[in-house]
Amino acid sequence: MTTISVLGLGPMGQALAGALLDAGFRTTVWNRTPAKADALRARGAAWASSPGEAVAAGDITLVNVVDHPVVDAVLEAAGQAVADHSIVGLTSDTPDNARSTAKLVADLGGGYLDGAIMTPTSTIGTPSASILFAGPRDIFDTHRDVFAALATTTWLGEDYGRAASYDMALLDLFWTSVSGFLHALNVAQANGVKPSELLPHAHGIVGILPPIFEEVAERIEHDRHDDTSAPVSSVAASLRHLIAASHQAGVDSGALKAFQRYVDATVAKGRGDDEISRIAEAMSE
Ligand SMILES: NC(=O)c1ccc[n+]([C@@H]2O[C@H](COP(=O)([O-])OP(=O)(O)OC[C@H]3O[C@@H](n4cnc5c(N)ncnc54)[C@H](OP(=O)(O)O)[C@@H]3O)[C@@H](O)[C@H]2O)c1
Repeated sequence: MTTISVLGLGPMGQALAGALLDAGFRTTVWNRTPAKADALRARGAAWASSPGEAVAAGDITLVNVVDHPVVDAVLEAAGQAVADHSIVGLTSDTPDNARSTAKLVADLGGGYLDGAIMTPTSTIGTPSASILFAGPRDIFDTHRDVFAALATTTWLGEDYGRAASYDMALLDLFWTSVSGFLHALNVAQANGVKPSELLPHAHGIVGILPPIFEEVAERIEHDRHDDTSAPVSSVAASLRHLIAASHQAGVDSGALKAFQRYVDATVAKGRGDDEISRIAEAMSE
């Protein structure tokens, strides 16, 4: 039977190890703070006293810690044990850091697959969990049964940075959306509108986004911003009102002003009549 080692037992590492135990896999765990393994050990997980011992015990090792510098430090501590072993990084970080961990594992003589967990701990072990993978297809195929016990999985390609690229882009969308919602609630509350009163209408706004995303994505992919349905100039006027409303409500408008800079730069380049997709070009440093 496959033995899986899990390095890192924060909320997500505990969920991963728990799902593996539920699926009947022999599971070995290690964490910097040993007490976090207590509940898993009570359920049958084996404890490894060092990263090297954990890697040596597993046919495959999942690493789920706070960031890739810590992933690298843990794998460096495992040292020789990594040789001829498969390491699966499930830690969220930049594409370059994922590629650099892949190189470290190769230097230690192991094989590396990078993964990005796209859903919260509560989903792990169910089909609604999603993990994106990138790196050698054979490592992904060999351990498909392990990954299937954790989530619905997608392999994105051989480039070690590809799962992290999706992860960063999707988290960018997620956090800027959360930021926008928090800001909207602040402005609404300052004007006597309760969050619960705004919420159904916020759902309406979220509902109109998918077709807009489709159109913008298609236009950017084909670099075609004419035949306009929503011109850049209309965003400029709307942003002016939003920034004024924020100011009157006593709410910071830094994020809106950053977007306004891109819109103004696009208009200044004579692109005010183009589709809003054109604004993306002004964001490149
Ligand atoms: N939580 C979620 O819902 C969720 C969802 C999707 C993706 N993720 C990703 O999963 C990863 C883990 O997240 P998390 O929520 O479990 O918690 P986290 O706070 O991001 O990471 C906690 C883990 O990192 C370890 N750690 C931190 N610094 C360390 C160091 N210097 N040396 C060794 N270990 C160190 C902690 O060990 P100690 O216990 O000793 O402090 C603990 O095991 C992150 O990349 C996160 O983005 C999480």
